Amino acid sequence: MITYANRIGRLPPYIFADLEKLQEDMARRGTDIISLGIGDPDFTPPSIVVESLKQALEEPGSHNYSSSAGESYFRQAVVDWYEKRFNVNLDVEKQVCALIGSKEGLANVGRALLNVGDEALLPDPGYPVYAQGATILSDANPVFFPLDPREDFQPNFSQMRVDGKSKLVFLNYPSNPTGAVADKSTLEKAVEFCRQHNLVLCYDNAYSETSFDSYRSPSVLQIDGSLECAVEFNSCSKMFNMTGYRVGFAVGNEKVISGLKKVKTQIDSGIPRFLQRAASAALNRYFENPLSKEREENNHVVKERLEILAQGLRKIGLKTSVPKATFYMWVNVGTDGAQFVRHLLNVGVVATPGGAFGKSCWDYVRFSVTQSTHRISDAVERISKLNLEDIRKAVPSPTWLACF
Ligand SMILES: Cc1ncc(COP(=O)(O)O)c(C=O)c1O
Repeated sequence: MITYANRIGRLPPYIFADLEKLQEDMARRGTDIISLGIGDPDFTPPSIVVESLKQALEEPGSHNYSSSAGESYFRQAVVDWYEKRFNVNLDVEKQVCALIGSKEGLANVGRALLNVGDEALLPDPGYPVYAQGATILSDANPVFFPLDPREDFQPNFSQMRVDGKSKLVFLNYPSNPTGAVADKSTLEKAVEFCRQHNLVLCYDNAYSETSFDSYRSPSVLQIDGSLECAVEFNSCSKMFNMTGYRVGFAVGNEKVISGLKKVKTQIDSGIPRFLQRAASAALNRYFENPLSKEREENNHVVKERLEILAQGLRKIGLKTSVPKATFYMWVNVGTDGAQFVRHLLNVGVVATPGGAFGKSCWDYVRFSVTQSTHRISDAVERISKLNLEDIRKAVPSPTWLACF
């Protein structure tokens, strides 16, 4: 009889895969679904990406194995981008590692750092990969710290439980799912806390380039002393609407980067060279037109969509505010989020129940505005048919899946 490793049994269902399947089933039955569930931008990658990709496909060696740590021209493009964007100087050999999307690195950093029974301190709510891909699949244990809405979803380091088993901390700003941004003092406190307790700070900056008006997301590597304890993850996925390409990078502490590279040499053979060429071209042209103008325009559209959605949700009685960054709207629905999502499905709208991101947020729902503005308006029209009072009166289900 085939049996799985115990760690597989510790994994909860990956809610986004379930949502995708549910959507497919409904579409097969002919229901027109507007998906505000998964955070996959509807914008196309900049034309420089596609052009460079086509050219790279003709280059000799383009189809051969790459290096799991990343080709030197790609790592150099990352170094140059960090210098221009954040004024942070990095060593191209020692402080940069290419990733097959930042998700891969966020998971593999656990393999590099966690021993059986170690603990990782994780935000609740937070991106599920920290608990599952990084921690549980490394036979370690997640220890959650709450992000309080009354504190703008910033961590309270003085209340974090640290013991001999604590090894690393994950932080993510701009945040998925809350849309909260980190002020500089949060990052300073995070670095100080990690240095004091000998912890590695894994800072997920995947949404650094999706922000509105004058807000510009910082890098944790801008904080003095961060290179002693921190590694930052970012990717071309949201930055250039290249989610399917799988191109990301980790930068920062030399020892952590070296450990990550060691793990990767045993598991993968790198991002295809032609994709690294395309991503390098985009990073190298990031600050020039037409790319920089296009990015600004896209961010403007995202903000407009968030405003349309916020207004629509307010009309049915929900409290909403438009975040400074990300394409997510995180809404307290005042009842079981899964129950609310089921009612949304009845009117043909998919969103993600807050419980997918942590136990503390069972009464939240996350909306992702990654459909056309026209479809977002349609979704708002559909949502206006919901009666919040009735939804709140309905009996909550114990798990989100039980609703469907
Ligand atoms: C907070 C956060 N980090 C990392 C990722 C992973 O992105 P990718 O692997 O495409 O770089 C995501 C994807 O949605 C995310 O929301």
